[in-house]
Amino acid sequence: MESLLELDFSRSEIDAETERLLSRLDAVHWNKDTCAIIAPITLEINRLKKEMNAIILAHSYQTADIIFGIADFAGDSLGLSREAANTDADTIIFCGVRFMAETAKILSPEKTILLPAPNAGCSLAESITAADVRKLKEDNPGVPVVCYVNTNADVKAESHACCTSGNAAEVVNAQPGDKVIFIPDMLMAKNLEAHVDKEIIAWDGTCIVHEEFSPGSIEAWRKFHPDLKVLAHLECDSDVVDISDMAGSTEGMVKYIKQSDATHFMLVTECGMSDRLRVEMGKDREFLGSCVLCPYMKQVELPIVLECMKSPREDQIVTLDEDIIRRAKTAIDQMMAH
Ligand code: 13P
Ligand code: SF4
Repeated sequence: MESLLELDFSRSEIDAETERLLSRLDAVHWNKDTCAIIAPITLEINRLKKEMNAIILAHSYQTADIIFGIADFAGDSLGLSREAANTDADTIIFCGVRFMAETAKILSPEKTILLPAPNAGCSLAESITAADVRKLKEDNPGVPVVCYVNTNADVKAESHACCTSGNAAEVVNAQPGDKVIFIPDMLMAKNLEAHVDKEIIAWDGTCIVHEEFSPGSIEAWRKFHPDLKVLAHLECDSDVVDISDMAGSTEGMVKYIKQSDATHFMLVTECGMSDRLRVEMGKDREFLGSCVLCPYMKQVELPIVLECMKSPREDQIVTLDEDIIRRAKTAIDQMMAH
C-alpha cells in the first residue's frame, strides 16, 4: 500500500532518494526496501526545511537515518551550540535532547527552536535543580560553579560558567580561586582531577549510559586485538578512562580517529557514535565492542520530526523565561569562548 506522502513525489524522485539513503545507510545494514520506505519521509522533511528556512541539528547519538537522511549538521554538544549560534536559519529543529535544544534557544532566542521529542531528557540534567545549586553556593560561599552543558536552563542560570566534555578542563582552570563546584556529573568531575589545578567539589549525578561501562570488556577485546585503540567518553567511570587511549567528547573521538593510523577502535560511548563513524569512515576502520543505547536520544524518529515540522505541538516549541535566558547566557558565553 502506498503511503500518503508517496503521492506527493514522483517515482523517479523516490527512487533517487532511496539510492541516496542506501549509499550512506548500507554501512549500518539498512537495505533497499527499508530505505524505500523512509525515502518519502526524508524527501518531505528536506523539502519543508527549504520552505521554512530551517536547519536540522543532530547529536551524534541519533540514529543513522536521522544523521544521514535529514541532518544539516551532526556533532557533539559544543559543535551543535556553535551551529545554533551561527546559523541564518529562522527555525532550528533539534534532533537530540532537551538541554541541547534549550542551549540553542539561549544562544539564538529570536529563532524558533523545535524539539520533536519533548520528553527526551537526560539523567544528568535531571539529577540537579536550581535550588540545589543555590544551596551549594550558600554552603561554599565565593566558590565558582561550573555546570556541564547537560543541565537544564535554570541550573545554567545559577552557574558562573558552563562547559562541555570538549572543554571542561579549560573552563574549570579558567575560574578564579583554588576551588570549583562542578555539577552535575561526579564521574566527569573525578576524571577532571588530573587535568585541573583546583580542588573540585562535585555533585552526585551520573549518565545512565556511560556508568554502565566497565574495564572488563575493554580488557577482553584487547586480548583479541592488541593494537585496538580504546576511546572513552569523559562521563565514564575513571577505571574505564584510566585504561583507555583517549578520553574526551564525542567529537574529540572523531578527531583522534582521523589522525590515527590504527584500524580497530572501541568507542566506549552510546551506540550511535560507532554507527555514525561506520558510515563516515568507510571500510578502512573497524569499530568493535558493545555499546549502550541512550533511551532519551532514541526518542527521535523520522515521522515524529516530520509531524513536528508540519504542525508543532506547544510542547515541541522550546520556550524559556527571558531572565533565565539572560543569566544562563553568561555561563554559556564562557563555554563558547573555550
Ligand atoms: P558530547 O558533547 O561529547 O557529544 O556529549 C553529550 C552527551 O550527552 C554525552 O552523553
Ligand atoms: Fe544524558 Fe547520558 Fe543520554 Fe547523554 S547519553 S543524553 S548524558 S543520559
